Amino acid sequence: MHTDFFAWLEQHKGREYDLHNDHINPAFVKMLKTIGFDKGYVRGEGAYLWDADGNKYLDLLTGWGVFALGRNHPKVRAILQQLLTRDLPNLVRMDCSLLSGLVAEMLTKHTSENLSRVYFCNSGTETIETALKFSRCATGRQGVVYCDHAFHGLTTGSLSLNGSDFFRSRFGDLMPGAQMVPFNDLEALEKALSTKQAAAFVIEPVQGKTCEVVADGYLAEAQSLCRKYGTLLVVDEVQCGLGRTGKWFAYQHWPEVEPDIVCVAKALSGGYVPVGAVITRPRIMDCVFDSMERCVVHSNTFGQNDMAMAAALASLYVIEEDKLVENAAIVGERTIKRLREISRGCPFVSEVRGKGLMFGIDFARPKENFKLKMAWDMLHKLNFGVFGQMVVIPLLQKHRILTQVAGFHIEVIKFLPPMTVSQEDMDWFLNAMEEVLTDTQRFPGAAWDTVTGLAKRTIRM
Ligand SMILES: Cc1ncc(COP(=O)(O)O)c(C=O)c1O
Repeated sequence: MHTDFFAWLEQHKGREYDLHNDHINPAFVKMLKTIGFDKGYVRGEGAYLWDADGNKYLDLLTGWGVFALGRNHPKVRAILQQLLTRDLPNLVRMDCSLLSGLVAEMLTKHTSENLSRVYFCNSGTETIETALKFSRCATGRQGVVYCDHAFHGLTTGSLSLNGSDFFRSRFGDLMPGAQMVPFNDLEALEKALSTKQAAAFVIEPVQGKTCEVVADGYLAEAQSLCRKYGTLLVVDEVQCGLGRTGKWFAYQHWPEVEPDIVCVAKALSGGYVPVGAVITRPRIMDCVFDSMERCVVHSNTFGQNDMAMAAALASLYVIEEDKLVENAAIVGERTIKRLREISRGCPFVSEVRGKGLMFGIDFARPKENFKLKMAWDMLHKLNFGVFGQMVVIPLLQKHRILTQVAGFHIEVIKFLPPMTVSQEDMDWFLNAMEEVLTDTQRFPGAAWDTVTGLAKRTIRM
């Protein structure tokens, strides 16, 4: 390899799709090419991506929420660059690093006093695995209650709490004792908890797959039920945490709520280095690490590494200094309000929902308009869940806005702008949405032709 890394990389330009097809995931390459998302982006900065022809795109996918600070944030980069100039004694293992201590101090500054301990790991799913083990250890119970449509990651434990058969099927038996309840249903929750088998109730205050938000009062009541039946309340803020919803943690929208365990990841990385953190009460941690002998009974090799900790520390400073929580609240609220207004004119939109800069649009069969009902039925007979592509594809091809349908067999498109996003960029998005939603109502028309063709092709894939 050349010492000039970019010159070396340049020699391989244009091979990305072939390499992925040969060595990584050919089905993914096929999907990208089928919907025309094989753009080969060459640059990312802030809320934008650029392709090789210099076209600028607004990124509302943000690497599934990782680029909450925007891409390549200069303040985070500056810290990481400084870090790399020193021969630091990274990951000594038989010592305590100052950096991870500082990240823990800064993270817990934004939670209540009782949530003062932090366990560091490398991803969102690992935070959930940790929460499951901590809960089981602290309660001596096996069971876990989770919600319909939940998404907590795809390793075996977190997959056991996935509210969609699509992700679980064909992977065999998962963790025993996991029980699903409908989202926002307190009666069902009480029934599940009253058996006193559940170590934890795990919930996303804003669901990543559906953008459903917990109803006002729900989390506080769920917390009371958890206390009543001896279950720990685990809040998964991997996606909605660290300011995205307009509060440092989404559960803080409801002041009476104080979970037992809070999981964060994604935004904490600054988009640079994978990281996850589990914030919890001392009494829970102390059940796990209750002697010198057991002081690393739950651990990982790369957790607390200097690069991840520096990225986390810099990211937390940026969120504070640049007032990104406030920006998410203001820009998010205005955008959701305007998207609701625009959507009122489109009979396919069943709901616009979310909080702050985590929001989605849900589509359903129109209640009126015979022609559009027929069009919907025809498309769904061919292929369920393709309708969203009628929005996502023109958003990218015509308006240069990157989005994605939120999940398989659900008609939701989720938007995750960076928390740095401006009102102007959200207007770019809102104007585009107005046009795209209008086009969905032109049947027969070009948008329907595209998506019908796609539905036919995906059947044959
Ligand atoms: C709410 C939630 N929990 C957990 C995870 C899993 O995180 P990771 O992909 O980093 O393992 C995700 C990922 O999207 C998520 O949205």
